[in-house]
Amino acid sequence: MPGLTDWISVMQDDLQRSGRLRKIPAVDYGADLMAEVQGKKVLNLASNNYLGLSGHPEMKAASIKAIETYGTSSGASRLVSGNFSLYGELESSLASLKKQEKSLVLGSGYAANLALCGTFADRRTVVFSDRLNHASIVDGIILSRARQVRYRHNDMDHLAHCLEKYRDHPRKLLITDSVFSMDGDRADLMSIVRLCKDHSVPMAVDEAHATGILGNGRGLACELGVEKEIDLHMGTLSKGLGSHGGFIAGDHRLIAMIANRGRSFIFSTALPPAVIGAGLCGVQLVRAHPQWGRDLLRHSEAFRQWLLSSGFTIGPSTTQIIPVILGDNNAVLAARDSLLANGILVSAIRPPTVPEGTARLRLALRSDLGRRDMEHLRSAFTVLRQEMG
Ligand SMILES: Cc1ncc(COP(=O)(O)O)c(C=O)c1O
Repeated sequence: MPGLTDWISVMQDDLQRSGRLRKIPAVDYGADLMAEVQGKKVLNLASNNYLGLSGHPEMKAASIKAIETYGTSSGASRLVSGNFSLYGELESSLASLKKQEKSLVLGSGYAANLALCGTFADRRTVVFSDRLNHASIVDGIILSRARQVRYRHNDMDHLAHCLEKYRDHPRKLLITDSVFSMDGDRADLMSIVRLCKDHSVPMAVDEAHATGILGNGRGLACELGVEKEIDLHMGTLSKGLGSHGGFIAGDHRLIAMIANRGRSFIFSTALPPAVIGAGLCGVQLVRAHPQWGRDLLRHSEAFRQWLLSSGFTIGPSTTQIIPVILGDNNAVLAARDSLLANGILVSAIRPPTVPEGTARLRLALRSDLGRRDMEHLRSAFTVLRQEMG
């Protein structure tokens, strides 16, 4: 009788051969500017801790204070006994950051997208989704049993065609990332808002990588001034905001419904106090320092120009996420190892996370990089360029 290890052995060989086998890396201090790999300090461009908040003294103090007040666990789901007053403060601050009436915090950004789709879509719904939307949106739509219509990435003609095709469908929803996680480019939100308006389609935006950075920390919708045209604003506390958890902001009636229909909210223990305390502090710090995001974007633009002039292919990024596209899976692994040998930690992103033939290094620039760090980065990439020939 074959066991699980027999079932997976072919799969494993296949993944290994095609350079797609994933292993959990041994990285200590993985959110810090200087992470540690095999005892060696390396400059960390693999984390989404874009503003370096996870090590900020005020964040740590807020987290410790929350533990001292409420303990280490929430003990139950929010709907049972896992709620405490810090949640109210965090949710008000997030609603205000997003210029919305209410917000709801969930266990992760992933859980937030599952709840969003599960609440506002069902088997009678058509959901329009950018082809490069995050996996949590794809999974959320699948779980909701809605019909998923994936339009070509940022292709407004194709989106218009898809919307037209379902013009008479009674229940629709559109979801898009605002900043795409593997390419660092931005959704054409102005056009999407206009098209959704023309076709009476409610709209949700995932601002996981924009919150804390774009729009003075409020996100892309606020930067463009279209926040009131978008029904649901999803985000995460785990990246720019330096803590953990996801959230959805919008009209109070919509948010109340998520607590009734969002299964990833209802059937999961509430995030613990330490995380909520830090999350609240993260929002307050971002509100107090809107220039952090602006500076990071400016430095990212300068580094992109340097990469381009050094002969790298960097794709359409306009944010702190910079892909260096090499195409071949094994070439990306070799490039990652070369950078690591020179003291730089980046992630090697391969299919199925990105389309076949577009394997890449993903650089996540961060606002705590100093001038000497940037010099270090440029010299490691210069070595890589020479090795690549
Ligand atoms: C666009 C996007 N949405 C949602 C998520 C999920 O957020 P979390 O990591 O907080 O679960 C991610 C995570 O990388 C993301 O990139």
